[in-house]
Amino acid sequence: MRLSPRTKLVKPSATLAVTTEVARLRATGVEVIDFGAGEPDFDTPQRIKDAAIRALAAGATRYTPVVGTKQVRQAVVAKLKRVNDLDYAVDETMVTCGGKHALYNAFQALFGDGDEVVLPAPFWVSYADMLVLAGAQPKIVHAPASQGFKLTAEQLADALDARSRGVILNSPSNPTGAAYSQAELQTLADVLIAYPDVAIVVDDVYEMLFFDGPRPAHLLKLAPELRERTVIVNSVSKTYAMTGWRLGYAAAPAGVIKAMGTIQGQSTSNPTALAQAAAAEALAGPQDELPAMIDEFRWRRDYVLDRFARLDGVSCVKPEGAFYAFPDVSGLFPRRWRDQPLGNASRVCEFLLAEARVALVAGDDFAAPNHIRMSYATSRENLASGFDAIERALATLR
Ligand SMILES: Cc1ncc(COP(=O)(O)O)c(C=O)c1O
Repeated sequence: MRLSPRTKLVKPSATLAVTTEVARLRATGVEVIDFGAGEPDFDTPQRIKDAAIRALAAGATRYTPVVGTKQVRQAVVAKLKRVNDLDYAVDETMVTCGGKHALYNAFQALFGDGDEVVLPAPFWVSYADMLVLAGAQPKIVHAPASQGFKLTAEQLADALDARSRGVILNSPSNPTGAAYSQAELQTLADVLIAYPDVAIVVDDVYEMLFFDGPRPAHLLKLAPELRERTVIVNSVSKTYAMTGWRLGYAAAPAGVIKAMGTIQGQSTSNPTALAQAAAAEALAGPQDELPAMIDEFRWRRDYVLDRFARLDGVSCVKPEGAFYAFPDVSGLFPRRWRDQPLGNASRVCEFLLAEARVALVAGDDFAAPNHIRMSYATSRENLASGFDAIERALATLR
């Protein structure tokens, strides 16, 4: 059957491809340690599961309003006030089928053919493809390891011009774990204020996974004048270990939410009613489980950094949040495997999967070809045995 040209614009997500390969190998009986997956290894807290069970018993089995129930939207409003000290009305919020869907709806609502959207790299794989699906042109600006993977105000000012329609900001970041400090955010905000036609999409899905010191104030707290052209995207996936529930949310001026809601109404309609009830509990209920989860991720971050520091040919910037490390592995490229130099990050990943049985994601699709992404959302035991296996495999290389 003929497929539309649109299908050629996008490629399968590199991270999901690794997850699929791990599942395939495991199905054939091969044991693999997965450092590729972008989801917490914790279970959804019981209070949240209980809320979904109660909702089911109470008959939450029908369509809800397309943009979500009043209950979950009020929980979003309460969260934005409690965590970010931002004031939003219920009609300035909506829920979506995951944070990814909120981004998709936002890009469809905000951007069209030929619109230039500044995308700092390394970036999460889906931004570029979703922008292209909206007809927009990602304008990739590289923020290398030497600057902590963070876009500088000078770079942002250089990248913006009369054709610019948007900027994507993601902090803490997937794939690097880099997080902007408050001072850094302020310098970016100062540049953005001068470009009134530029929409800002702030992806906060990792905001609670921040390890060193107090979390910086939100961009919109630092520059409230940007509120009228900013879409905040977030989800319960990472903060509450709810990736499978598929529940994200957005906050933006009411007109933007209305447009995003119309798009959602002609595609998925409302996210699952049960997931909305669970998310309302996640966002508005007691947040007791978070400190232990953040402490555990901080411990793992420190462990992983220490293990990378001991590997010859590998260097890693200290991640400040999320659950990823993004080492530069170009020092391994000259080493030989199967009679050839390793040569690139994809082949380093191929080598580590074949010889160490450890799955990682090559940096190419994150626009950082000298790097690999490691997720430490896995147990301490897996981290230890994965790094032991990597050390043994590297020791066999010439
Ligand atoms: C930076 C970033 N944004 C958004 C998402 C979407 O998360 P979800 O759709 O599971 O809420 C992800 C998931 O990996 C992510 O890494």
